[in-house]
Amino acid sequence: MSLLNAIEKRRAYRALSNRSVDEEVLNRLVRAAHSAPSSGNNQPWRIITTVEKSQLDALKETLVGGNYWGKNAPVIAAFLTHPSYSMTMGMRELAYFELGMAAMNYQLQAVEEGLYAHPIVGFDADKAKEVLKVPEDVVLEILVIVGYPGEMSTLSEKHQQVETSLQVRKPIEEIHSFNQWSEQLVPKKKK
Ligand SMILES: Cc1cc2nc3c(=O)[nH]c(=O)nc-3n(C[C@H](O)[C@H](O)[C@H](O)COP(=O)(O)O)c2cc1C
Repeated sequence: MSLLNAIEKRRAYRALSNRSVDEEVLNRLVRAAHSAPSSGNNQPWRIITTVEKSQLDALKETLVGGNYWGKNAPVIAAFLTHPSYSMTMGMRELAYFELGMAAMNYQLQAVEEGLYAHPIVGFDADKAKEVLKVPEDVVLEILVIVGYPGEMSTLSEKHQQVETSLQVRKPIEEIHSFNQWSEQLVPKKKK
């Protein structure tokens, strides 16, 4: 698979099977994440992989209603960091940027492994931190819901439709310009 193919193959899919994922596969996902670049090689990403049933069940209780589909997952990975784990230059807290790069590597390795890896923000982060025994000041930025492809029938009608639709993206001129800032880069007001 070419890299661009893998990148384009990744989608935030929701139809998951509850089939378990081997630890060696999960370790490869973490290895991919850990290969991300970081300023000063600070490696500010922290990942907690939850597979144990009682922990997983407790974590699933923190999901918002719209993320019901995550309840089928055999694995949930928490991505955490703290601004002090990497460089901060003015407003630029690079730990978050670097955590994002690690999370992207993780998702791409999931494509290679035939897994879905869907990042979510829709969960109660305070409760999830309690479940995972994360210190108060550490930021639990996202959860990644991981699993093999499963039945579409587990999804709402709306989600079944999203699952099979083409990827939606803004026109390229709205996110990129050559040489200087362009007015087109200003986000359009949502109607
Ligand atoms: C930081 C982040 C948070 C997200 N949170 C949720 C979420 O809570 N629930 C959900 O169903 N999808 C969530 N998504 C998935 C996005 O909705 C999805 O990536 C976007 O619609 C584009 O679709 P695609 O990834 O299939 O191209 C999240 C994605 C990111 C990157």
